[in-house]
Amino acid sequence: MSLTIEPYDAACGARVTGLDLSAELSPATIRTLREAWLAHHVLVFPDQKLSDDDLERFALYFGPFGEDTFFGPIEGRTHIAAIKRMADETTPIFADIWHTDWSFQETPPAATILYGIDIPPTGGDTLFANQHLALEQMPEDLRQKLAGKIGIHSAALGYSKGGAYGESDREAGRSMDIRPSDEALAQQPHPLIREHPETGQPGIFGTIGAYVIGIDGMSPDDSLALLSELGAWQTQDAFIYTHKWEKDMLVMWDNRSVLHKATGGYEGHDRLLHRITIADTTD
Ligand code: SIN
Repeated sequence: MSLTIEPYDAACGARVTGLDLSAELSPATIRTLREAWLAHHVLVFPDQKLSDDDLERFALYFGPFGEDTFFGPIEGRTHIAAIKRMADETTPIFADIWHTDWSFQETPPAATILYGIDIPPTGGDTLFANQHLALEQMPEDLRQKLAGKIGIHSAALGYSKGGAYGESDREAGRSMDIRPSDEALAQQPHPLIREHPETGQPGIFGTIGAYVIGIDGMSPDDSLALLSELGAWQTQDAFIYTHKWEKDMLVMWDNRSVLHKATGGYEGHDRLLHRITIADTTD
């Protein structure tokens, strides 16, 4: 078995084969994977039979666990959450909106790992939008408007008690263990355009909808107008890789380089993935 990394014919993403992630990886292999992850932003490892121990060991090759503020962990673990939807569930699809994971944190996670356990026969793709490419191809007038602008990030729309995943959503029967809290009302600034902390490559960080709720020093109307223009630009088809899940597939993405979003289309089927975030220790 030899390690093969094949970039997809898409804006980002590469398929990695020839490795058994249930066994320990050598330092040289981990270095190769880290370089590939930084280059391609999304790595896809099909056909991996992994226990939760394997998943945690793999995650820790790339950094310490991140803080998953509003998720309860699965039983017996502290850092694995379940992205879960039951066949008969009627609450809105979780995370069906472009976002950067936990971008309202002071130092958002470097990476997120998802591992497919129950994968529906149709639908449930995850979309990734390459934010280096989106910036590289951005028209100069929009770039000028964004220069030096600081986005205000908050989890209030999602995870406050009155938010999309708040108390009424729990009462409506969401199966995921989401724990809304007043902590979601806090705000955190991050530049809208910034250099990647490891590669230095400039990119757009965050987007309107989930967590970016305004722009520092701009009126709500002006913020909304500029963030909407940015949102339309950064999520165009040309920047997207559409990931189709298989059972036993592990995906690790660079949360500092891509936006992502879940999709539905699998009503009547269970969907279950285990998720770990990896802290960013490079700032
Ligand atoms: C997420 O945004 O973490 C979930 C992605 C998915 O369910 O496809």
